[in-house]
Amino acid sequence: MTVRRSNIFTEKPLSRPYEVKRGKARERFTCSTIGFVTRPHVLLSVAVSLDGHIDDRGTERFPLSNAEDFDHVDRMRAESDAILAGAETLRRDNARLLVYSDERRAARIADGKPEYPLRITVTRSGDLDPDLRFWHCGGASLVYSRTPETTVGHLTETKTFTEFSEILDDLGARGVRKLMVEGGTSIHTAFLEAGLADEIRVAVAPMLIGQATAPRFVNPAEFPGGPARRFHLEDVTKVGDVAVLRYFPKVTSERA
Ligand SMILES: NC(=O)c1ccc[n+]([C@@H]2O[C@H](COP(=O)([O-])OP(=O)(O)OC[C@H]3O[C@@H](n4cnc5c(N)ncnc54)[C@H](OP(=O)(O)O)[C@@H]3O)[C@@H](O)[C@H]2O)c1
Repeated sequence: MTVRRSNIFTEKPLSRPYEVKRGKARERFTCSTIGFVTRPHVLLSVAVSLDGHIDDRGTERFPLSNAEDFDHVDRMRAESDAILAGAETLRRDNARLLVYSDERRAARIADGKPEYPLRITVTRSGDLDPDLRFWHCGGASLVYSRTPETTVGHLTETKTFTEFSEILDDLGARGVRKLMVEGGTSIHTAFLEAGLADEIRVAVAPMLIGQATAPRFVNPAEFPGGPARRFHLEDVTKVGDVAVLRYFPKVTSERA
């Protein structure tokens, strides 16, 4: 487990990661303490094709991963306190961000947690369809919006925000210690551009989408450290025909 403290003014890490060995696997878990608020550990999760796309141009979500990897993702969701996806992912995929395994939900309840992690979306316009499945299943939901008026204000809590760091402060104050961010492109870009991601999990599917305008993991942006910055690669796992890569973007590669 890694606990990282951050300087209240610069938000830069003050101390070296603190690591705890768990069995054979070395786990790093980072929370940033900003002032009196502990921000959650932020895990970005994405599935990409070999040519770097996260979806095709069709109207239905394109399944890049395999059943085994979906089960890994379900486990990560169950281990999270909150799961976040952008408003466009809700609209395009009608995503619900649920934990599907009965056993995992039962284990959460046995641990004194809510059955489902808090499900969160982010919107600029506040224009969200009240009929989306997201609002009608799976426990509590929350909207972070640039505008106080949303079309789903009667269905869920809305918090206004300006910077993504404010979302982490607010979630930290709500007791969220682990946040899983499931995309899409602009949300992953925003977290990485602001230097707010602690971990990236990339599932690489052995497929070629081959469409120039299909969405990618991130949009062009000025990422911290610039294009030469190399992230620490923590591990690579074979999950059926999918390669799962885990990076720690706040830790520079020892090969840099
Ligand atoms: N392969 C994977 O692992 C994976 C996972 C998830 C999603 N996806 C794919 O990703 C694609 C969607 O990506 P996307 O980039 O179009 O959409 P997105 O990131 O899911 O959501 C974008 C929306 O989020 C809100 N938003 C973004 N930045 C904001 C900011 N700074 N402040 C306030 N609100 C902000 C805006 O909502 P409003 O428009 O409401 O203002 C914006 O339209 C879909 O094709 C989906 O299937 C793939």
